[in-house]
Amino acid sequence: MAYEHLIVEVEDYVTLIRLNRPDALNALNAKLMSELASALAAADADSNTRCIVLTGSEKAFAAGADVREMSEKTFTEVFIDNLFADEIGVICRVRKPIVAAVSGYCLGGGCELAMMCDFIISSDTAKFGQPEINLGIIAGMGGTQRLTRLVGKSKSMDMHLTGRFMESAEAERCGLVSRVFPAKDLMTEVLKIAQKIVEKSMISTMAAKESVNRAEETSLTEGLLFERRLFHAMFSTEDQKEGMAAFLEKRQPQFRDK
Ligand code: COA
Repeated sequence: MAYEHLIVEVEDYVTLIRLNRPDALNALNAKLMSELASALAAADADSNTRCIVLTGSEKAFAAGADVREMSEKTFTEVFIDNLFADEIGVICRVRKPIVAAVSGYCLGGGCELAMMCDFIISSDTAKFGQPEINLGIIAGMGGTQRLTRLVGKSKSMDMHLTGRFMESAEAERCGLVSRVFPAKDLMTEVLKIAQKIVEKSMISTMAAKESVNRAEETSLTEGLLFERRLFHAMFSTEDQKEGMAAFLEKRQPQFRDK
């Protein structure tokens, strides 16, 4: 399917979705968000996709929600339309792993979109921020919640109240970013990481994602029970037998998602 603001490629069981609004530093307008929700839902349903990579350009992952599009909107419009709620709902329901590959500006809704992914790999040029405060608003795609859970109250408050940008080294140090690579190597390294995920049993990768995400929604006791039950359920799969047999026979496993 052809998109106006996305480039989508599928290769070696990885769907690579590239945000593509270069004139606006990939600012997230309604069209882009709707296309992104469709592309992610399609990748989730596609039997040739076992991992999704979401990226932007070298200059910008995304510089935020589209200020030009939002500037004249009224409270009534954004409230009645429930601005961005449907698209975010679709993105957060994707069950296959999504890796964000971030270079350049990753601000506002861009940072929030990266945080909706399962983990973030960034280049050494990445700049993260929640600068909505400079526009007389606050974050609205999960920034006050997800950033706080990832980096703690103090740094999250600092980012949301001052609107400052955070370099990738600081982002890695505080847990927003999982790994940092030189900008020229970013996509090669992220695609290698995606290949590692592709090789696993998809039953395990989807169960692991579901279980880790549960950690943010439940008490420790409930989360541990959820994880243990999923762990027990894995013993009903052929992939568990194959994975353990391969280990004992000192060979690579051949997972069949069964
Ligand atoms: N919404 C709409 N357009 C945006 C945008 C956004 N969030 N961020 C950048 N753009 C547009 C600019 O308006 C400009 O378009 P123009 O050439 O038609 O004027 C183009 O992208 C390039 O941006 P520019 O500001 O000229 O680049 P820069 O390198 O000088 O600065 C930033 C880069 C990211 C620091 C700056 O664009 C910025 O602060 N953007 C807004 C960040 C923000 O507040 N995000 C939260 C939004 S809720």
